Formats: sequence, structure tokens, C-alpha cells
Amino acid sequence: MRTTPDQLRAMKQRGERIPMLTAYDYSMASILDAAGVPILLVGDTLGMVVLGYDSTLPVTLEDIIRHSQAVVRGTKNAMVVADLPFLTFQVSREETMRNAGRVMKEAGVQAVKLEGGRRVAETVHALVEAGIPVMGHLGLTPQSVNVTGGFKVQGKTEAAARTLLEDAKLLEQAGVFSIVLELVPTELAALITERVSVPTIGIGAGPRCDGEVQVIQDILGLFPDFAPRHTRRYAEVGKAIHDAVVAYVADVRSRAFPTAKQSTSMDAAIIDRLRSQQ
Ligand code: KIV
Repeated sequence: MRTTPDQLRAMKQRGERIPMLTAYDYSMASILDAAGVPILLVGDTLGMVVLGYDSTLPVTLEDIIRHSQAVVRGTKNAMVVADLPFLTFQVSREETMRNAGRVMKEAGVQAVKLEGGRRVAETVHALVEAGIPVMGHLGLTPQSVNVTGGFKVQGKTEAAARTLLEDAKLLEQAGVFSIVLELVPTELAALITERVSVPTIGIGAGPRCDGEVQVIQDILGLFPDFAPRHTRRYAEVGKAIHDAVVAYVADVRSRAFPTAKQSTSMDAAIIDRLRSQQ
């Protein structure tokens, strides 16, 4: 049984924190699902941490569908949420509906996430009316990085904070089942969390949201380019992989691997006949 929006709302009401992580492939998703993560996000961070772009903008609907399919195949219990990439939900209502519908039908995810506040409220409403659960995303919205001018904390002035608060209420009214708050001051994230009935999931938004989401590469030390301030390393998997591969390369070069233990043999007489036949 996968996590449902109702269960997440009940968790908020009980004051039970909601852990969420990103996942982009089958094997990682299987591990995260078995570890009990109730929501997995196939985020468009895929573009940066898996595909090596310098922003999330080049990610396509096909990228998200392909990776979401793998994550769905790797999970039994987690709700899988797929990000709608840049310009897949802005052009027209029809196109948005078709794109979100493709992600739901072809990837088999349980919900979609899209970035933005008041400007996407009507879109959210239409998707929810069509039976597509939607997670909102406010604060830093990386798809708008060229407008916001970098990966900066949002909502610090009174006007900006008020806009964010209003946006959260508008998304709630439009029918989102949850809202990601990215790079928002702790106090504002706490106020939004108090004011909306749906769970807030923070990232760089302090400890007072209903839940927390992190990019899996960041918490495992798997992304070499940089470590955001809001993350914590729970393992040095990148270093473990590096050391293991250095040992493998040395073993192959020195003929220490493979050995008879990793090999099979056959009847020596057959080989002898083949050798003698040229
Ligand atoms: O794309 C992503 O991974 C995200 C999270 C950072 C919330 O949107």
C-alpha cells in the first residue's frame, strides 16, 4: 500500500514528521523504499545530479517519464511524485493536462509537483479536478533561476514574505495536497506551516515544516560539484565508490582479479582438440 495524500494530512495533524527524498533510478528507489521513506520525488534536479546540466531547465518530459518509470518499478510503499519540467505546464491548459496525464499514465506515479504560486493556481485546480494529485513548490523555484537571479533565500522582506504566505493559501485553495518550501527563512516557513492545512515539506526552510526533503546525492556525498548549506552528509558514498574503484582498477592491472573463484572451467580434452585443429 503506497502512501496517500490523506495519510500525509493525518501525519500533519498528529504532528508526525514527513521524511521525503529524491530518487531517479530503480536500485536507489528500492533501497529508499525498503528504508521506509514515505514519499519519493523524481525531481528535475535529475538534470543536475544525474545528467550533468548546470540547471534544471534542460530536463524534458521524456527524461522525467523514463526515470519515474524506474522509480515506480523499484517501490512498493512510497508515494512517487514526479516533477513537471520547465515549460511543460506554462504554455496552455491543454498542453499541461496532456503532459501531466502522460506522466501519470506512462510512468505510473501517484502525483505531480510543479513550481510556482498564484500564477499556477488555476492550473493546479484544473489538474486536481481531472484527478491528478498536485504538490506545490514555493520559495526558491529553480526553474525561474534566470528571473530570481540565482539560488538565493526567498521571502526575507515583508512584501516578499506576504506574497509567499498568500501564494501558499492560494495553492491550498487550488487543491494541492502538500507544498514544498525551498530556501525560505525558518520563521516564515513556520508561519506558512501554521496557516495551511496541507503538509509543508521544507528544504533549506528550517526545522518547523511538517516534513523535510533532500536530494539523495547530497545526503550520501554522491554529488562532487558542490554541497548546499542546507544539507547534511549521512554517508560518504562517493568516497567509498572512489576507493572501491581504485582497488578494482589495481586488481585488474595486477591480475589479482578475476581469480578461479569468479571463473568457470571446461573439459581440458575439448580445449586440447580445438588447439590442435587451428
Ligand atoms: O527537483 C527537486 O529535486 C526538487 C527538490 C529540491 C524539492 O524540487
